[in-house]
Amino acid sequence: MKIFVASILAALAAAGQASAAEGSADAGKAVFDMKCAMCHASAPGVRSPVAPNLFGVGQRVSGSSDFAGYSPALKKAAVPWNSKSLDQFLTGPNKMVPGTRMVITVPDAQKRADLVAYLVSLKKK
Ligand code: HEC
Repeated sequence: MKIFVASILAALAAAGQASAAEGSADAGKAVFDMKCAMCHASAPGVRSPVAPNLFGVGQRVSGSSDFAGYSPALKKAAVPWNSKSLDQFLTGPNKMVPGTRMVITVPDAQKRADLVAYLVSLKKK
């Protein structure tokens, strides 16, 4: 019985870790289409007047695309975007970069992980 309980606990722990660490880019695209695409473009070369194009975002620092409407705060912060910093940003943009004009948060950890997996996949293959 003891061994049985221990192995169930181990399995649960492993499943929990997997879901916290890994997001699904496919699921993330659905979240993006719902919560981000009204402002952000995600295909190369497409311009949006209201927000920076996020193609290649995982390979640049904050505020460095050719988008004209960046806040001084996001440019000055020059955060290197990667899975970790994007996750933190989407938890509370204004907490991480006070003064940013990006105000959308994604409180759900799984949705955020999926979204971040999608964002870092937006690059030249
Ligand atoms: C209402 C329009 C709007 C929505 C919706 C929106 N954003 Fe933004 N986002 C912006 C603006 C404007 C900026 C530029 C902010 C600044 O310069 O401070 C920005 C900046 C960003 C940046 C930094 C880009 C860079 O080049 O440094 C990321 C990453 C980002 N948004 C991700 C997202 C994600 C993911 C979503 C969906 C959950 C989302 N945004 C939803 C308007 C929006």
